[in-house]
Amino acid sequence: MVSQVQLTIAPASVAEVAQETPDTFTLVLNLADGRGPKDFVPGQFNMLYLLGIGEVPISIASSPNERRVMHTVRSVGTVTSLLAKLRPGDKLGLRGPFGKPWPMKEAHGRQLIVVAGGLGLPPLRPVILEAIRKPESFEGVKILYGVRTPSDLIFQSEFPAWEKAKGCEFFVTVDRGDAKWKGNVGVVTTLFPGAGIKPSQAVAFVCGPELMIKFVILELVKIGVPKERIFVSMERNMKCGVGTCGHCQLGPNFICKDGPIFAYPQIERFFPKSGV
Ligand SMILES: Cc1cc2nc3c(=O)[nH]c(=O)nc-3n(C[C@H](O)[C@H](O)[C@H](O)COP(=O)(O)OP(=O)(O)OC[C@H]3O[C@@H](n4cnc5c(N)ncnc54)[C@H](O)[C@@H]3O)c2cc1C
Ligand code: FES
Repeated sequence: MVSQVQLTIAPASVAEVAQETPDTFTLVLNLADGRGPKDFVPGQFNMLYLLGIGEVPISIASSPNERRVMHTVRSVGTVTSLLAKLRPGDKLGLRGPFGKPWPMKEAHGRQLIVVAGGLGLPPLRPVILEAIRKPESFEGVKILYGVRTPSDLIFQSEFPAWEKAKGCEFFVTVDRGDAKWKGNVGVVTTLFPGAGIKPSQAVAFVCGPELMIKFVILELVKIGVPKERIFVSMERNMKCGVGTCGHCQLGPNFICKDGPIFAYPQIERFFPKSGV
């Protein structure tokens, strides 16, 4: 059922803006209706609205235990390029939350494998923060993060905390290094052999470009992670966010309502001839 809060555009104001990379920024928001991060669950998304311009679906990047609601956005088109111009005090609208969250309970008592490609990291950031907060709930946490170049890395100030967190290991790779880069070079799946994944115990949460998701699933299945323990976040163009317009349809599923998080077997047949 569509709730009133999903149809109402809540006024919000920008509290802070953090420039992550030249084209990617984090908006820290205050909601006029008094809601805060605890009202949004990891994996869900909001529609961010600019009056007279339009609305875009953007994942919730904050964890429920932080002080403010955060969204990390890449400027790619009409609405996101105007969101990039917002400064502290500016107003926007927020509709949501929408969608199903990451199934954190499925990972309890198991090894949690978080695989993020590029801008797939923001919806997984709250998962990471929640896992770090409750290390006793997991048989270890492995974060595998891949980007095109070192200048595409976001949330860099948080990496030391992720590296040091109890039970957590953080691996990062770039497709192309630069003169200063001393880390791994290669796509995110090149991190798998050295990551100590225990397939029989693992639960994987995967987010990133669809091609990257396809190859990550291929690798996870190859090393023996059961398909039903692989969860992916999917993206499609959206309009309504509540399962009525059909813009986000994937087979019988509406990504806004039935997703964006799916267990892999739910959507396996819609991956284009994946051979996975
Ligand atoms: C569930 C979900 C979660 C998401 N989470 C995030 C998130 O956390 N952060 C984030 O940054 N994005 C996220 N996205 C993607 C985001 O919603 C889109 O990037 C956004 O809707 C783009 O809107 P826009 O108006 O800025 O771009 P549009 O103007 O709609 O453009 C979209 C694309 O079309 C291209 N384009 C635009 N105009 C033209 C043209 N004239 N000719 C050729 N190409 C053109 C642009 O380059 C761009 O790639 C998410 C999407 C979904 C579905
Ligand atoms: S965005 Fe309208 S059905 Fe999903």
